[in-house]
Amino acid sequence: MSFYVFMKYLEKTPERYDFAICLLSSGKLNDVYKRFVSYIEPGQKVLDIGCGTGTLAIMAALKGAKVRGIDINPRMLEIAREKAEKSGVSQNVEFIEMGVGELYTEGENSYDVIVSVLCFSELSEQEQDFALSMIKKILKPGGLLLIADETVPTGFFKRILIFKLRLFFKILTFILARSFTRPVKNLPEKIKKYGFEIESIRKNKMGNFLEVVAKNGP
Ligand SMILES: C[S@@+](CC[C@H](N)C(=O)[O-])C[C@H]1O[C@@H](n2cnc3c(N)ncnc32)[C@H](O)[C@@H]1O
Repeated sequence: MSFYVFMKYLEKTPERYDFAICLLSSGKLNDVYKRFVSYIEPGQKVLDIGCGTGTLAIMAALKGAKVRGIDINPRMLEIAREKAEKSGVSQNVEFIEMGVGELYTEGENSYDVIVSVLCFSELSEQEQDFALSMIKKILKPGGLLLIADETVPTGFFKRILIFKLRLFFKILTFILARSFTRPVKNLPEKIKKYGFEIESIRKNKMGNFLEVVAKNGP
């Protein structure tokens, strides 16, 4: 999954994003969405941070949740709105142009579930900290935080191997998009630091992609 660094390039062509991400992840990202949606109950209020083209947000809305997807890329959001319309869930999902830096505008204890897939790796360390502090505030006590992202593996040899595999994609992405993503460091520890209780962590074989399920502690 070292190709996730390629994400910044895919975001430059949002109309091809869904196809490319499905191809590159050999459908594995879809399995992540399904696992995350299994935690969501009909009627719950859900926030998807960095929703992109809205696949996960729409799946949650199809399950009967009331969903808000936020993202800073207006073209990704346009596609998300079209997809919601086609799926017949426009009533249950809204897509808003809004960055992590504006999360303070959301009300306290507003959401039952907050999800974020492959967005934290596009944020600076400071933005990640800010996002987690805001999530702590806007998620209801006992609410769930579901984050899946590219992370730095813990083992030394895996770290070296991933660094080398990633380097090619990183250079290519920088040439094409003038930007690249950064694997998130110590994601579970970061989440815990903000008062969440880790319920489960699922790692891929290389340990460089994590799915974290955490509960908002008291
Ligand atoms: C790799 S895409 C992932 C999209 C989607 N979550 C998915 O699973 O396909 C990352 C998304 O995060 C968005 N993003 C990056 N920085 C952001 C920020 N500061 N606030 C909100 N969204 C952001 C990008 O615009 C992009 O759509």
